[in-house]
Amino acid sequence: MSLVTEIDFGTPASKSEKTVALTIDGMEVHVPEGTSIMRAAMGVGTKIPKLCATDMIEAFGSCRLCLVEIKGRAGTPASCTTPVAPGMVVHTQTERLKALRKGVMELYISDHPLDCLTCAVNGNCELQTEAGNVGLRDVRYGYAGSNHLADKKDESNPYFSYDPAKCIVCNRCIRACEEVQGTFALTIDGRGFGSRVSAGQMEPFLESECVSCGACVQACPTATLVEKSVIDIGQAEHSAVTTCAYCGVGCSFKAEMRGEELIRMVPYKDGKANHGHSCVKGRFAWGYATHRDRILKPMVRAKVSDPWREVSWDEAFAHAAFEFKRIQAKHGRNSVGAITSSRCTNEETYLIQKLVRAGFGNNNVDTCARVCHSPTGYGLGTAFGTSAGTQDFDSVDESDVIMIIGANPTDGHPVFASRMKKRLREGAKLIVVDPRRIDLVRMPHVKADYHLPLQPGTNVAVLSALAHVIVTEGLVNEAFVRERCDWEEFQEWAEFVSEPRNSPEAVEKVSGVPAGTIRKAARLYATGGNGAIYYGLGVTEHSQGSTTVLAIANLALVTGNLGRKGVGVNPLRGQNNVQGACDMGSFPHELTDYRHVSNDAARATFEKLWGVTLDKEPGLRIPNMLDAAVEGTFKAIYIEGEDILQSDPDTHHVAAGLAAMECVIVQDLFLNETANYAHVFLPGSTFLEKDGTFTNAERRVGRVRKVMSPKNGFADWEITVKLAQAMGVPMNYAHAGEILDEIAATTPSFAGISFAKLDEAGSVQWPCNEKAPEGTPVMHIGTFARGKGKFVITEYVPTDEKTGARYPLLLTTGRILSHYNVGAQTRRTANVVWHEADRLEIHPHDAEYRGVRDGDWVKVASRAGETTLRALVTDRVAPGVVYTTFHHPSTQVNVVTTEFADWATSCPEYKVTAVQISRSNGPTEWQERYREQAEQSRRIIETIEAAE
Ligand code: SF4
Ligand code: SF4
Ligand code: SF4
Ligand code: FES
Repeated sequence: MSLVTEIDFGTPASKSEKTVALTIDGMEVHVPEGTSIMRAAMGVGTKIPKLCATDMIEAFGSCRLCLVEIKGRAGTPASCTTPVAPGMVVHTQTERLKALRKGVMELYISDHPLDCLTCAVNGNCELQTEAGNVGLRDVRYGYAGSNHLADKKDESNPYFSYDPAKCIVCNRCIRACEEVQGTFALTIDGRGFGSRVSAGQMEPFLESECVSCGACVQACPTATLVEKSVIDIGQAEHSAVTTCAYCGVGCSFKAEMRGEELIRMVPYKDGKANHGHSCVKGRFAWGYATHRDRILKPMVRAKVSDPWREVSWDEAFAHAAFEFKRIQAKHGRNSVGAITSSRCTNEETYLIQKLVRAGFGNNNVDTCARVCHSPTGYGLGTAFGTSAGTQDFDSVDESDVIMIIGANPTDGHPVFASRMKKRLREGAKLIVVDPRRIDLVRMPHVKADYHLPLQPGTNVAVLSALAHVIVTEGLVNEAFVRERCDWEEFQEWAEFVSEPRNSPEAVEKVSGVPAGTIRKAARLYATGGNGAIYYGLGVTEHSQGSTTVLAIANLALVTGNLGRKGVGVNPLRGQNNVQGACDMGSFPHELTDYRHVSNDAARATFEKLWGVTLDKEPGLRIPNMLDAAVEGTFKAIYIEGEDILQSDPDTHHVAAGLAAMECVIVQDLFLNETANYAHVFLPGSTFLEKDGTFTNAERRVGRVRKVMSPKNGFADWEITVKLAQAMGVPMNYAHAGEILDEIAATTPSFAGISFAKLDEAGSVQWPCNEKAPEGTPVMHIGTFARGKGKFVITEYVPTDEKTGARYPLLLTTGRILSHYNVGAQTRRTANVVWHEADRLEIHPHDAEYRGVRDGDWVKVASRAGETTLRALVTDRVAPGVVYTTFHHPSTQVNVVTTEFADWATSCPEYKVTAVQISRSNGPTEWQERYREQAEQSRRIIETIEAAE
């Protein structure tokens, strides 16, 4: 493997379709209007020296190294800030320019430590390279004058260091923070010679607004801002492009390696989901891959009360296979099943459902999407005919009105949030529908036009009220509805939403959102130009999750906001491969491509290939498996990459189900909470150790590439293959690409996708097949996948989870930027420095009423259970609502969530739990079990503080 390098064109590409012809150093060049001379010169192979320019950010023109001469113009303009013009004649290499550049460089170097040989970026430093390019051999001024060489380093950030002695004040970091990340954490403090880059008000990076995305580090042309891993280990020798294993944005990275050691993750500029940007998790939080907690040897035990016994892989497979066969022989074919995860690759998920269908002979397979986005599959499939988001991320660049419902993109989907913020800074309008004042409601340079802070559980009522305004105020896009939808269905729906009970005034009483705000938001969405809706788990994880997705689809249909760039309905997927897990047939009622198991033709495709007869009855969903286990009819389960004890609702019931089984196989990186109930533990591999594909929230299939050998010995897909073989199920693949080939052969939307295609295109969005050989960035152009768009009446049915005297507050949950899901990975990285423990957000009124002060221990009790955590008193939540994250097992907030679930898909109602809050003396008895984990986090933080 060699080092993947990307060209820096100096300035961003122009989007103009008009071409300009000019001459550079005697060569004619044709470039889009608006291109800089610097970028145009690259077209004829001329690299003009530069320091303050880079193509991820707009040109600034401060370093004066990129000077050129232009025939007929006085002076020597900067080529980065000067756009091309027709007929322009440019010279980049005259004697005068050489002298000027050398003089500029001399000044920089006179205030720079000459420690190149021991510098972390030696050989990979733009200052060093350009000094060589301009032919600098001597510094006439000496090094003894005033300089910054003794300026103090800032080592506060756990992942990168800031050494002001090496700063050339090129402003690239500041502009990256503003333009790429949109956080505005950096500024220049002081003037003239005293100018220094400052985080916040000359604060340490860790204490400033910095969110540690690393865009500034990537932009820095010197060793001023540099990854600590590069300082500690050295520079990379080889790299491969892969896909982030955290959230559903699916950022592309270059994994830069030295031998088998990962040096750093560098966001890939050609990555179509992230265009060279990242967040703190993807760029920095990969240390879990080598964490000492990783289990690397298979283990078995007869009873869960026995200690684990390390065994060979062969023994583990033989034991697991024997147990599953014994159990099926004794308790019947349907007594076993499997759960796959959105953390698995497409290939791994495909194999698991194959093992269940072809090997176990039933359809008892489910995925963790059950507990997050299953209502999306149902709702969007029903309304449009495809269970997926309608747009690519780039589409947001053309949105005029953005509506965010039940999502918190700056924490959950940070790279897409940066993109969205950029569009908002350009003038797009923003509507936020969320019980909590998420960052996007008000942050530097972004302010929501309308925030609808609804009571948890009232999404459907508020969406119907928005539709009421659109229909009753004559804002319907009638031409679109007549052409693209069933007119009769529309009329019935319009009549329904027009009823007075759906008016904003009536809905204000249940939702708490002022009627006037609902009216204004509806008018803006319907009349403000391209309207795009993005939503998250605040929509789906409700007893009316599927109804809410349908209500969102209705809004897009009635306003004609579908089928072109800038509009659409887009679920923001929580985990990296939620979309892929659903696509791959991991639901108990669906084969790949969302074809129902009762579909004879679809079943026949697999039956022919696999040489078996498939069950045409849907299998058990996760909650049904657990219910059946408690009832004694479901006896064994194979769980890959999912910690259901921590992530699924009503923990006590999950535990009871697992405890009732005779064989639980857990395949994971760490001994997770579910493994407490396991009989077989199969150590899993990280995304760095295997090949495959992930599908992100925009249906984009991207490569996962193996950059190091699996520390456990096998990639996860190989483990499933070997387990299947031990059970006598034929599975033979030489590499993961062959699994994808089988997926393509059986799944119409994937027919054109292969490793070769992904190597060539980088990534593609399904459907990718004969009709769309290059994939499909925007769905439903001209016609819906199902033909006509479907309006569905969405009656608001209040959840059965009610507040009352005993449980008067509503608990809702969410995630935070630095952590991922149940925290198994991120808690084993320095990310704990930002979030050592889950906190309970409570409004000052509710806190005062209960005598709770900021930082106090509080007990959260619901009818399902209770837990204890520290309070964070804040008006980000409305009175009557409390909020927490679910990243730490020491909190295990799902102890308090209930068994209520979405009526259509059984997706749990995580977002609404009636609770009481009271002061407490500290953790409960069961929470004490997690003391060691909490101490581990503390040790990491102490190490970081000591380094500082
Ligand atoms: S790490 Fe990101 S947020 Fe922090 S200063 Fe750099 S660019 Fe800004
Ligand atoms: S820290 Fe780096 S990018 Fe920022 S001004 Fe200094 S040299 Fe330029
Ligand atoms: S966690 Fe999400 S936003 Fe962050 S780098 Fe990974 S894919 Fe991108
Ligand atoms: S690169 Fe053009 S002025 Fe710095």
